[in-house]
Amino acid sequence: MLNNKVVIITGGGSGIGLAAARMFAAKGANVLITGRRMEVLEEITANHPSIKGFVADAGNPESAALTVEAAMKQWGRIDIIVNNAGAGAIMPLEDVNAQSILDIFTVNVTGPTLLAAAAIPHLEKTKGLIINMSSTYGSKAGANLSLYGSSKAAIEYMTRSWALELAPKGIRVNAIASGPVETAFLRDRMGLTPEQIDAVKEHERQSIPLGRRGEPNDVAAWMVSLANPEMSWVTGQVIGVDGGLMVT
Ligand SMILES: NC(=O)c1ccc[n+]([C@@H]2O[C@H](COP(=O)([O-])OP(=O)(O)OC[C@H]3O[C@@H](n4cnc5c(N)ncnc54)[C@H](OP(=O)(O)O)[C@@H]3O)[C@@H](O)[C@H]2O)c1
Repeated sequence: MLNNKVVIITGGGSGIGLAAARMFAAKGANVLITGRRMEVLEEITANHPSIKGFVADAGNPESAALTVEAAMKQWGRIDIIVNNAGAGAIMPLEDVNAQSILDIFTVNVTGPTLLAAAAIPHLEKTKGLIINMSSTYGSKAGANLSLYGSSKAAIEYMTRSWALELAPKGIRVNAIASGPVETAFLRDRMGLTPEQIDAVKEHERQSIPLGRRGEPNDVAAWMVSLANPEMSWVTGQVIGVDGGLMVT
């Protein structure tokens, strides 16, 4: 279905990004995954001939142009950008400082914006697609989640705005607002202890109408669906993939 299409996935070394990389590759696409740790990317790409790794920090403004250049050098086209890399923080307002705001917004807002902008001329040629990763908490309020949630709210607004701007070029822009998914995010991005993680997971299991936290493939499957040429009359949408959490 996606033979010879080229996909860039930021933060593709684990979790949802890796599941998406594998699914896109299984559909015939060539995939460039980014991340900050070379060894993680090398381990993945060693077993997947159509997945290549590129070391890039989504929080570094120089990464956007370099990432686009790497994909163009490798395959000569770009069809799909998945702005998946994300920073998180559970941070009461009393603890916020200028640096903590910057740390989240640089990765969750500045990085995706610069990557999308850098890719426009290439996406215009392929009538391509941008997929932004949001969260249930991009629109649902959460105590101590104001930085994380507002950065996702920003990417949701950008999704709608870019969809309007880029439709005349034939580029579609959508977002996925994921519910809680089994990845290392709570440990590595939110900085929670194992006990806190167990408590959060139990609370989430009880809050999600479908009775379980998601698996990375639950979200990755929707990314691949958005790229399906038969499902292409969709742009400017934020699709909730969350076991029903948003409607509680
Ligand atoms: N998991 C959830 O419950 C959940 C729920 C809603 C939304 N989301 C969103 O889904 C996205 C992916 O989450 P996940 O849970 O799959 O994440 P994850 O497993 O914690 O991380 C995925 C990958 O992102 C890379 N990464 C982290 N920061 C990066 C940066 N600044 N630049 C480039 N790569 C970076 C990491 O590799 P390195 O450390 O080597 O860079 C890691 O391999 C995020 O945007 C997150 O906000 C997740």
